[in-house]
Amino acid sequence: MTGLSVDGSRLLGRLHTLGEIGRDKDGRLTRLAASDSEKAGRDAVAGWFREAGLEVAVDRVGNLFGIWSGDADANAAPLMLGSHIDTVINAGIYDGCYGVLAALEVVQSMKEAALTPACPLVVAAFTNEEGVRYAPDMLGSLVYAGGLAVEDALATIGTDGTQLGEELARIGYAGPHEPGFLRPRAYLELHIEQGPVLEREGLPIGAVENLQGISWQRVIIEGRANHAGTTPMSMRQDAGHAAARVVTFLRDRAAASNAPTVATVGCMAFEPNAINVIPSRATFTVDLRDPDEARLQREEAALAAYLDELAVAEGVTITTERLARFEPVIFDRGIVEQVERAAARRGLRCRRMTSGAGHDAQMMARICPTAMIFVPSKGGVSHNPEEHTAPDELVAGANVLLDMVRELVEAGGDKRGRCW
Ligand code: GLV
Ligand code: MN
Ligand code: MN
Repeated sequence: MTGLSVDGSRLLGRLHTLGEIGRDKDGRLTRLAASDSEKAGRDAVAGWFREAGLEVAVDRVGNLFGIWSGDADANAAPLMLGSHIDTVINAGIYDGCYGVLAALEVVQSMKEAALTPACPLVVAAFTNEEGVRYAPDMLGSLVYAGGLAVEDALATIGTDGTQLGEELARIGYAGPHEPGFLRPRAYLELHIEQGPVLEREGLPIGAVENLQGISWQRVIIEGRANHAGTTPMSMRQDAGHAAARVVTFLRDRAAASNAPTVATVGCMAFEPNAINVIPSRATFTVDLRDPDEARLQREEAALAAYLDELAVAEGVTITTERLARFEPVIFDRGIVEQVERAAARRGLRCRRMTSGAGHDAQMMARICPTAMIFVPSKGGVSHNPEEHTAPDELVAGANVLLDMVRELVEAGGDKRGRCW
């Protein structure tokens, strides 16, 4: 393989340009799925796809693709690379966007070097990976992989009362293609780690071999509104207090577990939400994760038992609703080993690791051999505007991806290349 590297300054320039799209008047970056700001981000990415000579395609659930067939047989199963460009609220600029733009950079660099892939290369930006506006998370890739019917996905009602299908149509990204219309031979996703491991160990590359299971629920506690000044403590049916007890139960249990279980209550709302009224209703979310399915099930069962006890002890009614449930995933061993070899060839030290975050790769692993490459996250910080990865580390990760893609699809001596 002849030496070729990505154009690092083009990659970094696009990352920063995309990172400016969706900022509010206070400079906070929020590009929720299928929102106006995400439309602007999609338009920029689709524009770069076209500028690079890729064919742009959108499927019915809004997944956006840039396709380069080159001289390859257009019917050959493509190699797909990608991630997402939707963000959380008050996000950093790297989560997901790095994977999409590095994938574009890899394909564009190969194209400019007149390399000949043995199969089409596809850059994917999947819809609603974050799951902040619509649940479940990884919705676009889940539909793409056949795990959720497109009609059900489009009917999803968001946290703001909008319907995903209507919002996609409104922003012009309800495409004609059936999700799954391109059946990839493999899927690779480059991403920032979003955790502290690589930085702590001074390693530039992570070969992600598995991804933990994710359990999302909405919990609704109903008590009784009453006067904050006149109601004795013994006579309260305080939905707010009961909710607070769930928060501490989850945290104490996970912290004491000696296991990698993590538990988070990220959203909470009280009704009527007044300073002098005992809350009649508390609605909150629970995000539970564990790399071990049996342990994750035990944690879910422990929470359910605690909610039963709490309902009796606090005189409240508790209901739960499942928002997302994904089992842990083990990535393709051959690709994981390939990440290690590609890193070594670039002189980059690498370790195998587990992804704590959810990723589109988790869904794509259902339909094709899949793995991920991680680069370090400064201070292990993500889902935060302080998210940062050094420019040289971003470029190094993109070069590892480039080498892997070349190894997989370049038509070499045997003419057919080494596609799976
Ligand atoms: C996605 O970022 C998730 O892991 O929640
Ligand atoms: Mn992400
Ligand atoms: Mn994220």
